Amino acid sequence: MRSLYADHLLARLQENPHGKLHQRLLLVLQQAITEGIFPAETRLPASRDLAKELNVSRNTVLNAYEALLSEGYVTARTGSGTWVANMLPEFSPAPVQPSSKDVPRALPAHSLSTRGAELLGYANASPYQWGAFVPGAPDVTAFPHALLRKIEDRLQKSPDIEQLIYSNGGGCAQLRQALSEYLRVTRSVNAEVEQIIITEGIHQTVDLVAKVLADVNDTVWVEDPGYWGTRNILRCNGLRLHALPVDAEGIIPDVSAAPPPKMVFVTPSHQYPLGGLMSLSRRQQLLEMARRQRFWIIEDDYDSEFRFSQPPHPALQGLEDNAPVLYMGTFSKTLYPALRMGYLVVPKSLSHPLRTAAAELYRGGHLIKQRAIAEFIRGGHFAAHIRRMRLLYHQRRQFLLSLILRYLGNDFLPRYSHDAGLHLVLSLPDGCDDVAIATRALHKGVVVRALSQYYLSAQQERGLLLGYACIDEPKLFAAFMVLRECLRQEGIIGC
Ligand SMILES: Cc1ncc(COP(=O)(O)O)c(C=O)c1O
Repeated sequence: MRSLYADHLLARLQENPHGKLHQRLLLVLQQAITEGIFPAETRLPASRDLAKELNVSRNTVLNAYEALLSEGYVTARTGSGTWVANMLPEFSPAPVQPSSKDVPRALPAHSLSTRGAELLGYANASPYQWGAFVPGAPDVTAFPHALLRKIEDRLQKSPDIEQLIYSNGGGCAQLRQALSEYLRVTRSVNAEVEQIIITEGIHQTVDLVAKVLADVNDTVWVEDPGYWGTRNILRCNGLRLHALPVDAEGIIPDVSAAPPPKMVFVTPSHQYPLGGLMSLSRRQQLLEMARRQRFWIIEDDYDSEFRFSQPPHPALQGLEDNAPVLYMGTFSKTLYPALRMGYLVVPKSLSHPLRTAAAELYRGGHLIKQRAIAEFIRGGHFAAHIRRMRLLYHQRRQFLLSLILRYLGNDFLPRYSHDAGLHLVLSLPDGCDDVAIATRALHKGVVVRALSQYYLSAQQERGLLLGYACIDEPKLFAAFMVLRECLRQEGIIGC
């Protein structure tokens, strides 16, 4: 009988049947180690046994073990085999297939629903979202955790009744009040308290909006390239995605579409992933179409606090009164992702239905935490933290740009990017295989994401998403040198 380890490795190998066997085996072993399936200080199966169980040659296993050894994942103890290292290499890869994005992976056909299988087939989050160059990861070590805990501890000692019971009012009133002011002042969002609903982040907000404002088989417009997380939730809700191209001014609306979409999902302040800013004329065009054709604009404002050389650009929602816009924000980038807290600002006519629907679907909780965040904002700590992070991320971005210029040249600089955000897109020559580069980098423990994988259409620019926010300059430098070597090996740059 095969061991559980072998079953796991075999399943992983079958999920991705392409590429050379020894490389695939190396990747799944790296994944198993970084995911803790083979925990630190455990012994890997003897190469002869594993080869037999996986039905591969012993050399294939030996090659993979050797590569793991040279990359620091394992240590060899004479006479007693190969052991998982106590400390993983500095750039432990987030063990995800960079090529998986919108191409569903093979899945076990057992008891999943069609919808569940599709959701998992498109799942694409890195299991370990930290390190060079994971995009969208803020520096969670720089957050004043002790300060927030102090506020929370105080509130925990004598919580109000409202913070302990079921809530169907859209979340903690104090937080909605604090957000109403914050969003008005910093994002020019028209948000009265009753228009705000606290959610567990943008993923949940998208789910709520999809369920309540659209029916199965309705069409929604999404940006191409765009955020795969949003697309997956929309798909899982049975919606049809119509991917619209993005240029330097933002999404290009389909003026001839009939019937019109139910909703359009956009990232106007910082197009994800290219980094552009939607122009005023495009914003006005979209608003005008949405009014005339009666669809909703869903504005994803995921990281707009981080504009470095200019003040943050006002949100689309505030451009006109009673705009047909639902505005989604998140604390994932400004505070930290595991907080799972975000907010939705809805037009007044949707306030009651959406608040009620949110309570019916998710019930909502963490009200003491929400109250603590309200105090954190009110006390000026939120603004101070954003100011500090803006400086830090700007420095890191500048440093990465200087590396690109110095070691790769002008042609590799981001094409659309404004001076903003937690990642940039390294430009690559048209038609090159960005997935191959990402895979090569992953094998060396550096996570980069291939731009082509963010497209639904065949019209794809090539590039690599490089997150820089959570890594200091020495680590950025080291990871960049690894990436440069990969570019060399793939023939993108010369020797
Ligand atoms: C464009 C975009 N929207 C939303 C999110 C996720 O937000 P949340 O953590 O609030 O679910 C991300 C995450 O990286 C993102 O890139």
